[in-house]
Amino acid sequence: MQKFIYLDIMVTNKTFTMLKPDSVENGNIGAILEKITASGFRIVAMKLTQLTNTDAEAFYAVHKERPFFGELVKYMTRGPIVAAILEKENAVQDFRTLIGATNPAEAAKGTIRNMFAESISQNAVHGSDSNENAVVESMFHFSQREIF
Ligand code: RTP
Ligand code: MG
Repeated sequence: MQKFIYLDIMVTNKTFTMLKPDSVENGNIGAILEKITASGFRIVAMKLTQLTNTDAEAFYAVHKERPFFGELVKYMTRGPIVAAILEKENAVQDFRTLIGATNPAEAAKGTIRNMFAESISQNAVHGSDSNENAVVESMFHFSQREIF
């Protein structure tokens, strides 16, 4: 059964996003979700939640040797986030285009990070970087009955 759930997410073009603590603190949840849905993404799962240290260390484990890892974990755990699964054809790539470069100073005009991010460290949103990671990250936050 679990295998079918995994395949369903793989083949139907979903990505995973977090509106990071700065987006929630700055009152930007509504504006960012509006931009996401206006760009053709359908929200198929969504919750307001907060990462623990253990959660953030596991979620960003790929960066654990990087100099900014401690700062990243502190940032991502300091307040609530919005976690969501988004569906669209070519979701992973199109969402990365919509959010823009990691550093908002380099993010194209009109992208979410260009409009809402403060710095390379506090950059408003997360987007999965591959279909495989979209599945892993979705399963990290949601159970099957929370995905529609
Ligand atoms: P994300 O995973 O959050 O969608 O961001 P990304 O792919 O664009 O960037 P990534 O290289 O995966 O970095 C993950 C997050 O770490 C923080 N960061 N800080 N201070 C720095 O130099 C630095 N570099 C990265 C950002 O919050 C980045 O989104
Ligand atoms: Mg990344």
